[in-house]
Amino acid sequence: MRLETERLILRPWEDRDRAPLAAILGDPQVRRYYPGTATPEEVNAQIDNAIARTAEFGFHLGAVEHKADGKLIGLLGLGRLSDLMVETIPGHPLVEIGWQLDKAYWGQGLAPEGARACLAYAWTELGLPEVIAYTAAINTPSQRVMEKIGMRRDPDDDFAHPKIAEGHPLRQHVVYRIRRPE
Ligand SMILES: CC(C)(COP(=O)(O)OP(=O)(O)OC[C@H]1O[C@@H](n2cnc3c(N)ncnc32)[C@H](O)[C@@H]1OP(=O)(O)O)[C@@H](O)C(=O)NCCC(=O)NCCS
Repeated sequence: MRLETERLILRPWEDRDRAPLAAILGDPQVRRYYPGTATPEEVNAQIDNAIARTAEFGFHLGAVEHKADGKLIGLLGLGRLSDLMVETIPGHPLVEIGWQLDKAYWGQGLAPEGARACLAYAWTELGLPEVIAYTAAINTPSQRVMEKIGMRRDPDDDFAHPKIAEGHPLRQHVVYRIRRPE
């Protein structure tokens, strides 16, 4: 899967992405709403997993390249949810959309721009009926992206993340959904 928007190229992972992605996901500010930063080993495993899931399902969160400077600026895309999350999230959805960008590029509407292209691909090329997104209830920047691309939250779908301990500020999660336009 390779998509192009006005300012971005969304493409499959390449080996040259491993070090820059490790720098992005190793930044405490980028990972503010995660239980911790990612080590280079974890980032390598994440890229390997994305390549394997793309081979299995035909898509997964991929690399985001910024056209103006040619840099890798993060990850974004559609992903088949893990079995644990399918089981946990109300309604048992199958496909999510997600994003993590280098903080130097925040605030320019880049995540919504890339996400809109992925949703169009989900409807027209993959024929999916619905895409969801989930995040920690306190992650308001990510929820703003969800709202901007037309996703809506039903508080009845809120859930506690099974891998985050009770009482932890990141445990409570919200779900946003969007259905294929008629
Ligand atoms: C969430 C994220 C992808 C947003 O990307 P983006 O390209 O900056 O998106 P936007 O420009 O549309 O901004 C979305 C919101 O981010 C927040 N934001 C923007 N610039 C910001 C900055 N410099 N610092 C902190 N928050 C900022 C604002 O709340 C903004 O909403 P607004 O436009 O209504 O003011 C980005 O903040 C990110 O990568 N965060 C860290 C990883 C993460 O939490 N991913 C989501 C996991 S579910």
